[in-house]
Amino acid sequence: MAVRWIAPQFGGPLVLVETDVPPPGPGEVTIDVRAAGVNPADYKHLDAARGPDRPLPLPIGFEVAGVLSAVGPGTPDAPDAPDAPDAPVGSVGDEVVAFRISGGYASQVTVPAKDVFGKPAALDFPAAANLLLAGTTAAETLHVTGVAAGETILVHGASGAVGVSVLQQARLLGATVIGTASPHNFQLLRDFGAVPVAHGPGLEDRVAAAAPQGIDAVIDTVGTDDAIASAHAMPSGRSVTIVASEASMAAGIPAIGGNQPASAAFRDGVRARLLSLAAAGQLVVPVARTFPLTEALAALDLVRTGHPGGKVALIP
Ligand SMILES: NC(=O)c1ccc[n+]([C@@H]2O[C@H](COP(=O)([O-])OP(=O)(O)OC[C@H]3O[C@@H](n4cnc5c(N)ncnc54)[C@H](OP(=O)(O)O)[C@@H]3O)[C@@H](O)[C@H]2O)c1
Repeated sequence: MAVRWIAPQFGGPLVLVETDVPPPGPGEVTIDVRAAGVNPADYKHLDAARGPDRPLPLPIGFEVAGVLSAVGPGTPDAPDAPDAPDAPVGSVGDEVVAFRISGGYASQVTVPAKDVFGKPAALDFPAAANLLLAGTTAAETLHVTGVAAGETILVHGASGAVGVSVLQQARLLGATVIGTASPHNFQLLRDFGAVPVAHGPGLEDRVAAAAPQGIDAVIDTVGTDDAIASAHAMPSGRSVTIVASEASMAAGIPAIGGNQPASAAFRDGVRARLLSLAAAGQLVVPVARTFPLTEALAALDLVRTGHPGGKVALIP
């Protein structure tokens, strides 16, 4: 018998229930979860406004890492493990990551094989379980703003999960990053090659001092007033937010989200590349803390603070 967290109604509360995991059908696999990634999206998706027609109870958790325990009949092999091409995944016992799935806060899940990939050996299970939601979002922010080599960009929330992935991917593109963060996270930004500035009053002056040559694009992962103001100052196509709000909409700043078809298609298409980067040691996932799966509510509380200090994972 497996266990999983569900929300019997919109808004929660979440409850941990015992569950029978269905055996995998054609095109499906079953994963013994070793770590479930915890994202702000997990609690936001409990909001009825995100889709009042969704069936209840709501499953929770969009990404996991684990070990294949069953493969459905006729299921084609998932893509080769990027760092071990001679050891194709798709066989029982293979280490895998799965994204974007539904109901990852569980000890076992049956999911579509098309969303399952070989786990990069360079990442442990908690890091691997947190690579793709933030990583694909970060990749899309750089894509839609057209960031190119030699440019200087401003990233709001650079110490966050999405922010840290943006820093690494922007560096690979050859861009310079000015990133906002709390001072205790400045060294983290420097470690990823970015120039840190504190968020809060006076931000505009600090950014001007850090980038006298000017800013070519703005990526907002926090949605604060100063983030919106700096994004608003950019020419068309050179700013984006991942935290849509009335203020960002009023300012005309494009917002992207995984529930938008164009975003979903882009993000699905970039998963394998991000796994390859991780396998090559070029994309890492700082993990702040792990919790037992039974303590999912405490894990979510930490993420809700807005300052988790790195990624959070649940361990069944
Ligand atoms: N649209 C999408 O597709 C999409 C995808 C992923 C995430 N998101 C959303 O994007 C946001 C960030 O996600 P995440 O996973 O990166 O979150 P996270 O790991 O919790 O990081 C949040 C970051 O925000 C920073 N922050 C908090 N208050 C701030 C302020 N007043 N000014 C500037 N920065 C501040 C924190 O930096 P310090 O601790 O250094 O202050 C922290 O590093 C969440 O709202 C999430 O729901 C949207």
